[in-house]
Parts: sequence; C-alpha cells; structure tokens
Amino acid sequence: MRKTKLSVVLAALLTTFAAPLAALAHECPPGFPDEPAVSKHMEQLDIASGALSFDAIGDHGKALFVARFNVCDGQGRPATTGGGDKRAADEPARLRTSAPDSDACAGCHAQPRAGGAGDFVANVFVLAQTLDPTTFSVAPELSNERNTLGMNGSGPIEMLAREMTVDLQSRVAGLPDGNHTLTTKGVAFDVMISGGQVVASRGVNTDLIIRPFHQAGVVISLREFTDNAFNHHHGIQAEERFDLNPAKGFDADHDEDGVHRELTVGDVTAVTVWQAQLGVPRRVISKDNDERHMARRGERVFDDVGCTLCHKPELLLASRLFVEPNPFNPPGTCRDPNVCPEYSYDMTEQGEGPRLEKGPRGTAIVRAYTDLKRHDLCDAEIRHFCNEQLAQGRPAQDGKPGSEFFITRKLWDVGNSAPYGHRGDLSTITEAILAHGGEARASRDMFASRSYRDQVALVKFLKTLQVVPEDMRRAIAHE
Ligand code: HEC
Ligand code: HEC
Repeated sequence: MRKTKLSVVLAALLTTFAAPLAALAHECPPGFPDEPAVSKHMEQLDIASGALSFDAIGDHGKALFVARFNVCDGQGRPATTGGGDKRAADEPARLRTSAPDSDACAGCHAQPRAGGAGDFVANVFVLAQTLDPTTFSVAPELSNERNTLGMNGSGPIEMLAREMTVDLQSRVAGLPDGNHTLTTKGVAFDVMISGGQVVASRGVNTDLIIRPFHQAGVVISLREFTDNAFNHHHGIQAEERFDLNPAKGFDADHDEDGVHRELTVGDVTAVTVWQAQLGVPRRVISKDNDERHMARRGERVFDDVGCTLCHKPELLLASRLFVEPNPFNPPGTCRDPNVCPEYSYDMTEQGEGPRLEKGPRGTAIVRAYTDLKRHDLCDAEIRHFCNEQLAQGRPAQDGKPGSEFFITRKLWDVGNSAPYGHRGDLSTITEAILAHGGEARASRDMFASRSYRDQVALVKFLKTLQVVPEDMRRAIAHE
C-alpha cells in the first residue's frame, strides 16, 4: 500500500521538480558526539529530473562505495540476518564470516583501486549471512567461499546479459515441443520445450534470463547485487528492498538499529551507475618487441586450443546505452518506473576512461572473454573447481548438482586480478588453466600438449589483459 502511495507522490513530484530536493541527512542520536560516514543522501527524483549531473551522481556513488559505515549510518543489523530474516539466536554483533564483515565496499574491492577485485583475504563465505546462528558457517555445507571480483566493465556486461535475455526469450514463441538450440550473439544454449514452455536448459535457467553476476551466474543486475551487498556486508538496508516493501512484512526499521532510510532509491542508483561506468579493462601492450610478439603468438594459441569457445574475444552490444533499472530485476530490487524512473547514459561517451569501444552503426564491442553461460569444469580426474556443495540458485543439470556450474570467467582483467579461480586459491594463471576439466577438458589438454614456448606465449597474452593501471589511465582514455 505504502509503495503504491509513494509511486503516485513520486510521479506527481517528477513533473513539477527541477531544482534538487533537500537531501536526506542522517545524524547520530542526540547526545552522541559523532558523525555518520555518509552525511548526505541522494533522492531518485533529483536524478530522474535531470537536476543532477552524471558526475554528481557518480561522485555520490563512489562516496557510498568507499565510505566506512558506522552505527550512525545504520551499519549493522542487530535483529536480522543477511537474508532479511529476523534473528533468533543471540550472536556477537559482528562476525567476519557473516557480517558486518567489512566497513566499506572498497574494503574488499580495492585492486588496483576502488571498484576492483580483491586479495584472498577479501574472500566471502557466500550464504553464511543467511544462517542463524552463523557460528561455524565457513563449513562448505553451509557456505560457498568466493574471491572478490572487480566491477570494471560491469555496465557493458549487464547490458549484454539484458540483450541476450530479450533475444533468447523472443525465440521460444512458436517452437514445437522437443530439443532446440537457441543462439544469441554467437552463444548457443540447448533447451527442451514442452507445451510452449522451456522445461530444461543448459547454461542458463529455464526462464532464459542471463544472470551475469556472482561467479555462479545467479544475480541479474548490479542493482540487485548492490542491494544484497549493502545488507549482507554492512547491515545497511536499501529502502527499495526493506522500508518500501511492506508486502514482505518489512518495516521502516526492519533490522531494529534505530535508523530509517539507510540507503535511498537514489543512493542505490548512484552506486550502481558508479560501478557501471568504471573504466573498461583492455589490453596493456608492452613497448618491448619480443614481449609484443609473444603476446600476439599467445593470442593465436588461445584461439587454436579452443579457449575462445567459452572465453569469447568479443561480443557486440546493439545499444551503447546503460539503462537503469534492469527490467528483469526480481522483486525487492527496484524496477517500478514510478519509484526508480529510467536513467541512462552512453557508455562510449561518458564515464571513467578507458570507455567502451564503439562498433559500427551505433553498436559497441565488449572484449570481456566470456560467453555469459554456465559451464561444468568437473570430470573424474580434474576436480579443482568441484569443491562447492551449495547450489545457490543454480539448477541441477544432466544428473549433476547445480553447484558444479560456473559462469565463464571474464578474462579482460586477468592480467592484474590475481589470485585465480572462484575461491581465489590459485596463485598463477597456469594453475587456473590446468584446473579446467569437464566441458573444457579437451581445450586444457591441448594447452598442456603445446610447446613450452606456446604455453609461455599464451600466459603472456593473458597478462596483457588488465584494468588499466592508474598512471596509464588518463593517457589511454584520451587516445
Ligand atoms: C567482504 C568482502 C566484500 C565486500 C565488503 C563487498 N564485496 Fe562485492 N564481492 C565480493 C566477492 C567475494 C564477490 C564475488 C562473489 C561471487 O562470485 O560469488 C563480489 C562480487 C560483487 C559484485 C558482482 C561482480 C561480478 O562480476 O559478478 C558486485 C556488483 C559487488 N560485489 C558489489 C559490491 C558492493 C556494492 C559492495 C558494498 C555494498 C560490496 N560488493 C562489498 C566481496 C565483497
Ligand atoms: C567450457 C568453457 C571453457 C573453456 C573451453 C575454457 N574455459 Fe577458462 N574458465 C571457464 C570457467 C567456467 C571458468 C571459471 C572457473 C571457476 O573459477 O570456477 C574459467 C576460468 C578461467 C581462468 C581463471 C580466471 C580468474 O581470474 O580466476 C583462466 C585463466 C582461464 N579460464 C583460462 C582459460 C584458457 C587459457 C583456456 C583454454 C586453454 C580456457 N580457459 C578454456 C570456462 C572455460
């Protein structure tokens, strides 16, 4: 009810407001002589009305990403778990495994700078946050340990997933019952159709929504991930998920820490847009001739041995726009145009450099080295990537548990995002390649049988793929 009323009010305000609203400001309780880490918040109305510039939105998003939250911001969730359930057990206020496990998003996402990937020390025990009690939650039957990924290039990735979803879903209509292969952007998905419905599928759920985020491929948008992460890691509740979600039984102070509107709809848009616009990873080529020659040779080997079957060197985006919100967002993540009206920007024209590369006729080229599809890298001999026990939304397939499937890892930042593998327990690129079994076994074996010089060349090629280091960033951005 409250959501509907708010929608009407927002819609009315949208048509009348041009000047920024008085921004929400949190304060510490009376008599408590301190300050919140983030004093000012952002209203979605000011974003949608055009009152705020792209840079102002990005600056606020970054401020939220690097802020070390404290109790005056609403940090902590004394009464609830990271899944939003009320807690029964009496537990310590902070637990490293289930959170608040860090003070800032950038506490983990810091390599080579804020918004990037993380060290092994920044691993997360995914799903431990939903347990009650959480003690002993690092056991593999209770959580999936994962290494921190970087968000550089995540705007283009989300848009690719959206275009692929629309395309896949549009191909089902009119297909007869039976097995079919649906191909989008050169990536093939096998599906089984019965009565006009997809009843089984490989590499994607049967709803054919490509979920590009989490290494398991289970989250639809940056916005959905952001709402999850703020609650999980910091105990900061997004109002779109909690305060404005009475249908789920949530109220204005669901976690009972005394702070309301901890993260406004506008805040979530800002931090989402900031992540989406981060500099796109690209090749950083050595000035040394021999090194350059080896990297070129390695690129050919990478293709020859079949790595490009999954790690696609480029996918083409039909549109250059990043558009917020994602129309496929699940309940609890804003997608109602009255609450979070559309906001868009051109990924090839705006944002941190280097920007997304333009393609012909209004398209853009995404050189992420992924197919955004889930694969099974497990077989009887090679078991390294088969360590997980929890499916985390991944459906079982071909008689194998969902927990064996991972989305093809983006490699465009692999040159400076060590450590490797979903758990971050591999220290070299070579170990990560040799750990590929199952669907990638033939390709891995071909790599292993190539000459030593070819293997060195392939690794050197992968090392050229980087989040552009700060000192080179500006020069490249203005090339
Ligand atoms: C304690 C460490 C930690 C903190 C703090 C943290 N993250 Fe993450 N983040 C991770 C890990 C680990 C992953 C990879 C998860 C996986 O693959 O299952 C990740 C993945 C992500 C992704 C998905 C990237 C992709 O390509 O799949 C997004 C988006 C993200 N984090 C946003 C945030 C935001 C926003 C915050 C702050 C509210 C935050 N993270 C705080 C560790 C952290
Ligand atoms: C069948 C699809 C497939 C093929 C073929 C394939 N990969 Fe992968 N690759 C994946 C998946 C899925 C992951 C994620 C594994 C994990 O962490 O669970 C991955 C991860 C990686 C990683 C780890 C990256 C990181 O940052 O942790 C590297 C490096 C890599 N692949 C290189 C290669 C090379 C080189 C080849 C060719 C010899 C290859 N891959 C062939 C699917 C594939």
